[in-house]
Amino acid sequence: MKIKDLEFKKFISAEKIDAKVKGLAAQINQDYHDRTPTFLPILNGSFIFASDLIKEITIPCRVSFVKISSYQGTQSTGQLKTILGIEESQFGQDIIIVEDIIDSGLTIQKIMEELKGLGAKSVETVTLLRKKTARQKNVEVKYIGFDLEEEFVLGYGLDYDGLGRNYKDIYKQLDPALPK
Ligand code: IMP
Ligand code: MG
Repeated sequence: MKIKDLEFKKFISAEKIDAKVKGLAAQINQDYHDRTPTFLPILNGSFIFASDLIKEITIPCRVSFVKISSYQGTQSTGQLKTILGIEESQFGQDIIIVEDIIDSGLTIQKIMEELKGLGAKSVETVTLLRKKTARQKNVEVKYIGFDLEEEFVLGYGLDYDGLGRNYKDIYKQLDPALPK
């Protein structure tokens, strides 16, 4: 599959994602059975994952959104832009940040700090995907769907320059040095 200048191939099927999302939700339902957490999806990338995950949550919960952008093309710029900040009072709340993918960890670290500053009672993160960099840097994440190496991925909410969010499966960029 070609998107703009890059070639992608299927990497994680919709069925595998579905099973993983249900597993993550089951864990959260169990861990938070006596609390009323607030899910905080980070837009845009996590909108599909967040929707599927939250539909599997059976305990009382709230949902609020933030929008942050750091990526341009296939690289993090290292500069974070907050487009939609934390809107409701998160004082005393048990927050679960919902992320599509964690790479450098900059996004998640910034939001965690902000939430702790706002007096959140607890802050944890659920991410569908985690890249090698985040693993090496020991970025604090409680719930992880799939661990990746350094591949660039799209689909299931994740984009390349705004494209590809609509696919049900996750695709990865073909290494241009490898035969297809
Ligand atoms: P971090 O701040 O470096 O951890 O970057 C996390 C954000 O970058 C994610 O929320 C994604 O929006 C974006 N991102 C990181 N890796 C990828 C990728 O492989 N495909 C699409 N977006 C990505
Ligand atoms: Mg994102």
